[in-house]
Amino acid sequence: MKIERQSLGRLTTLGVGGEAEVWTPQNLPELKGAMSAPYRILGGGSNLVVSDAGLEQRVIRLGGIYASEDLERDPILSSEALHVTGWVGGGCALPGLIRRVQKRGLSGLEGLVGIPAQVGGAVWMNAGTRYGEMFDALYELEVVAHGEARIHAPEELNYKYRSSGIPRNDIVTRVRLKLTPSTPEAVEARMVDSDTARKGQPKARTAGCAFKNPTVGGQKVSAGLLIDRAGLKGLKVGKAMIALEHGNFVVNLGGATSQDVKELLRQVEEKLEVALEWEYELWE
Ligand code: EPU
Repeated sequence: MKIERQSLGRLTTLGVGGEAEVWTPQNLPELKGAMSAPYRILGGGSNLVVSDAGLEQRVIRLGGIYASEDLERDPILSSEALHVTGWVGGGCALPGLIRRVQKRGLSGLEGLVGIPAQVGGAVWMNAGTRYGEMFDALYELEVVAHGEARIHAPEELNYKYRSSGIPRNDIVTRVRLKLTPSTPEAVEARMVDSDTARKGQPKARTAGCAFKNPTVGGQKVSAGLLIDRAGLKGLKVGKAMIALEHGNFVVNLGGATSQDVKELLRQVEEKLEVALEWEYELWE
């Protein structure tokens, strides 16, 4: 197993945070070993704000069998209208997976286009857009908890908007996808549609949306819209700024600290009259 001290800022899309020991298990025995002392599990690092001081705990990144994929159709579980894949590792990058699924003419993941996550992390937080979320395409998933691998049907979990219900330190090691046979062209067209919805999002270093969309008067409202209406775009603390393109993104202008990001979001929450919940994960 590879064990290396690394800057977590370099392993996250926002680019904030100190160092930790990074363990990369290749199989279940190694994963059990890695889980034998306090740990955090790192996926694509695309939704993460890490403390400037780094972490004392080890950080686990899935490798080996957990970063491989088998998209072949399971002949027993599949039908004409349903393609159930083999196992796809939680450590696989979601964008590449979406592209390979599209090339096979399979539909089901295109609503997730543009999300820079790994599969395990995307499942853990039920990542999505208004065009679809991760749980829409799950046939079953393997979760390792307390040294034991268990297979679950999605219905057994308490998943909802941006949450799988899976406890924080349980690890989504592998999933099988349920996809619909279509054509590469039709899937591509839907990918373009959902990608268009992201056109207004910043291209700079961000960790995606900072806040979950709150429910106001029984309806989900865009946190970005509320932040924009409150005139908070461009608000800055240190090198962290509310994006000019979309109010729910924090941009790292270069050298931002986790303190900058936290203080910026605190100021936004203080100025809005709606209770907001972080979509970001905070590691400290
Ligand atoms: N809007 C503004 N100003 C802003 C932001 C948004 O006027 O600063 C308006 C937009 O023009 C649009 C409406 O508000 O009319 C909704 O905005 P958007 O389409 O961007 O959707 P959202 O609810 O803000 C959600 C997801 C995004 C995802 C988009 C597109 C959450 C918290 N956010 O944003 O996901 O990319 O839909 O599907 O669910 C993420 O999860 O990290 C993320 C970025």
